[in-house]
Amino acid sequence: MPLVTMKEVVARADHAGYGVGSFNVVSMQTIMGAIKAAEDANSPIILQAAEVRLKHSPLNLLGPMMVEAARKAKVPVAVHLDHGSQLEIIKQALAMGFTSVMYDGSHLPLEENIKKTREVIKLAKEYGASTEGEIGRVGGSEDSSEDIEMVITQVKDASSFFQHTGVDTLAVAIGNVHGIYKSEPKLQFQRLMEIKQAVGIPLVLHGGSGLTNSDFRRCISCGIKKINVQTATLTNVVRKVRSLLSETKEVDYFTYHQCVIDAAYESVGSHIEAFQSGNQA
Ligand code: 13P
Repeated sequence: MPLVTMKEVVARADHAGYGVGSFNVVSMQTIMGAIKAAEDANSPIILQAAEVRLKHSPLNLLGPMMVEAARKAKVPVAVHLDHGSQLEIIKQALAMGFTSVMYDGSHLPLEENIKKTREVIKLAKEYGASTEGEIGRVGGSEDSSEDIEMVITQVKDASSFFQHTGVDTLAVAIGNVHGIYKSEPKLQFQRLMEIKQAVGIPLVLHGGSGLTNSDFRRCISCGIKKINVQTATLTNVVRKVRSLLSETKEVDYFTYHQCVIDAAYESVGSHIEAFQSGNQA
């Protein structure tokens, strides 16, 4: 039941009314933790690598591990490039077996975003892969290096973007931000419903870390079917490693190594539960 396309897992979620977690991974340990959490919950998942993080975790090393882990998994796993901006990197990911890519043209004028997204869709189709686009702009940045201001998605822009691209999934900005929320998140559910009604396709929520289970459930019922989570996983890894090192006098490498896997497992598992994708594999 191994490597599948993102369109496939998300379509099943859309039909059955749950959300699929799209978990950013940065190492072998985070991949192992995420896959084990999905297998234990009998849940489909998406493993994703963010282009901006490839300076830490090079695609030529991380990518084949993600694809191989997906191929060997006991549950359906899609492998996705998150926030792709460079055609060369998108092409590289597709060539190594990624089954989905995002082109993020959210910073561009609408026409330009449509044009570039169409190019990526054409390329992805050659590999049988799915696509994600973004309209409006999610606040924060995937690696916290920029303080990007949020631009709430306009219904007419989402509609025009979808009509002119035919993208498989669409990331929206409805008050969600990447990284740590500086104040209590206030998601615009009414806007989300209007966007869903206008485009029909499954929608994507970026900035999943820090939202409540009730936010997740409402988002899912209003049309979100792919939920991206990164900060929660990495923060849990740091927290668990810090506590291991402070509580245990002598820690060998493999105890530390297992601690990273377990921390990723714990965080991914709790999100799978919140998204209600358990037993849906
Ligand atoms: P968080 O780091 O806020 O969970 O966001 C992840 C994300 O949206 C990646 O695209």
